[in-house]
Amino acid sequence: MKRILTGAAVGLLCLGGAAGAQEARTPAADIVEARQAAMMLSGVAMGSIKAAIDAGQPIAGQRFPTRALARWAHAVPGAFPAGSGAEAGVPTNAKPEIWSDRAGFEAKAADYAAAADRLAELAAGDDPAAFAAQWTVVRASCQSCHDGYKAG
Ligand code: HEC
Repeated sequence: MKRILTGAAVGLLCLGGAAGAQEARTPAADIVEARQAAMMLSGVAMGSIKAAIDAGQPIAGQRFPTRALARWAHAVPGAFPAGSGAEAGVPTNAKPEIWSDRAGFEAKAADYAAAADRLAELAAGDDPAAFAAQWTVVRASCQSCHDGYKAG
């Protein structure tokens, strides 16, 4: 009984929420917000990796963040499916060129993934100078895509 009542209450809350919303959220809105969050987190990872480099910390400590970055880099094209531009109905800085020049966008994503894979490989080795140099290569790959495909 208690469970039924709880279910009914949750159902009513959901209905109330839907009725109160200005307009229905599209599934693409969730994708936009998830990729924006992942992009921000990749910025956090890049910043913490750089801080560790500058502090001269052992690069072994960067294995997890660099692997996370590489995993995300490979997922980037899939985070920009058709229909997840301005039509998604939530604020986005994704430029229409992501879809009108898909090959160009995917090439930038592939450069980023290759650079991030290499950074993760170097984190598993013992060459701090090469690791630091590769961080700069990854950073350039972020910028290179933003220049053409991100507004603002
Ligand atoms: C292949 C293209 C591409 C690459 C590579 C890329 N980004 Fe982005 N990034 C975008 C696009 C497009 C947006 C806008 C997404 C949106 O608003 O829907 C974005 C948004 C962002 C944002 C803003 C998120 C927000 O909404 O506040 C940050 C921060 C960011 N990227 C950081 C990075 C970092 C750091 C890297 C590299 C480690 C990187 N990006 C690599 C395309 C890319």
